[in-house]
Amino acid sequence: MLRVGLVGCGFMGRMHANVYRTLEGAQLVAAADIKPDVVEKYAGEFGLKAYPSLEAMLEGESLDVIDICLPTYLHSHYTIEAAKAGKHVFCEKPMALNLDEADAMISECSKAGVTLMIGHCIRFWPEYAILKKLVDNGTLGNLLSVNLTRYGAFPSWSSDNWLADSTKSGGGVLDMHVHDTDFVHYLLGKPDSIHSWGSVDDRGPGQVFTTMTYGKTIAHLEGGWNLPSSTPFKHAFRAIFEKGAAIMDAGPLTIYEDGKEPVVPEIPKMEAAGGGNISDLGGYYHELKYFVDRLSAGLPLEIVTPQTSRQSLETTLEEIRQIYSH
Ligand SMILES: NC(=O)c1ccc[n+]([C@@H]2O[C@H](COP(=O)([O-])OP(=O)(O)OC[C@H]3O[C@@H](n4cnc5c(N)ncnc54)[C@H](O)[C@@H]3O)[C@@H](O)[C@H]2O)c1
Repeated sequence: MLRVGLVGCGFMGRMHANVYRTLEGAQLVAAADIKPDVVEKYAGEFGLKAYPSLEAMLEGESLDVIDICLPTYLHSHYTIEAAKAGKHVFCEKPMALNLDEADAMISECSKAGVTLMIGHCIRFWPEYAILKKLVDNGTLGNLLSVNLTRYGAFPSWSSDNWLADSTKSGGGVLDMHVHDTDFVHYLLGKPDSIHSWGSVDDRGPGQVFTTMTYGKTIAHLEGGWNLPSSTPFKHAFRAIFEKGAAIMDAGPLTIYEDGKEPVVPEIPKMEAAGGGNISDLGGYYHELKYFVDRLSAGLPLEIVTPQTSRQSLETTLEEIRQIYSH
């Protein structure tokens, strides 16, 4: 049983704590947050020991894993601190604000011989995982094009509104759109060309339209958080193959094939070990389960690695560079 300590008890810290409740191979035992009221409430709710900092938690607990759910500008520093203490690290996306920070994370984790996984949860989201299989197994022929969309209102929950400060979050393109940039790399690899346009406001680059080419295959990505506050969050895709299509948009994921009835793949509902439905935790459940299972089995990561996360960061930074250059 892996002993986990989590740092950053906000929105994603809560999501991860709910996932750990369902995992058999790991136990969340302690949490740290800079805000005493936040960590006390969180620790009470999830039955954990509360600490004021990562440093204090490392001193007070015997831990195998540090789970980092901190604002993005802190990812690199805290990953390096955890690695130096000999702990495996699960760190939320985006990996970091820039490539120097990402490289330092990779190098310190490698030097310490610990595993680092970045929470690129869309690779583990059931509908997206089905799309990945359709591309890999070729049952619908070659992929001709894929549209990936992710948009919503500006997230209002962040502690001291750090998301609104692009020097801390990278803006909506790095914070939100990076999910689709990462997923298109998972589907197709590094693109031959990238063309991005978008808009910038006082919260940084908040909207992007990108076209990537892969030989004759085209990927078109649209993302943003600059919609009115009443706008519901939406993620969607439309993949067109030589002999069919896979569409998740207004309804559930549906696979279309010439001469056949459309198929809506069943996404299994999973029961948690202690009861309750865990399907709603989607990719958040599957990514942490994968991390814990691979660590427990002594196996390296394959679905998402520090290098794939660095690549997704590099491409997203290029998209941002192009937005500013137009
Ligand atoms: N995978 C996803 O779909 C997804 C969704 C939302 C956020 N995220 C990512 O998760 C990370 C956290 O975002 P969030 O929405 O949970 O933010 P949040 O503001 O809700 O939570 C951050 C927490 O960190 C604490 N904190 C700040 N500085 C600290 C420090 N030095 N030491 C200890 N605690 C400190 C804050 O008090 C707060 O409780 C970000 O990188 C974000 O991009 C990922």
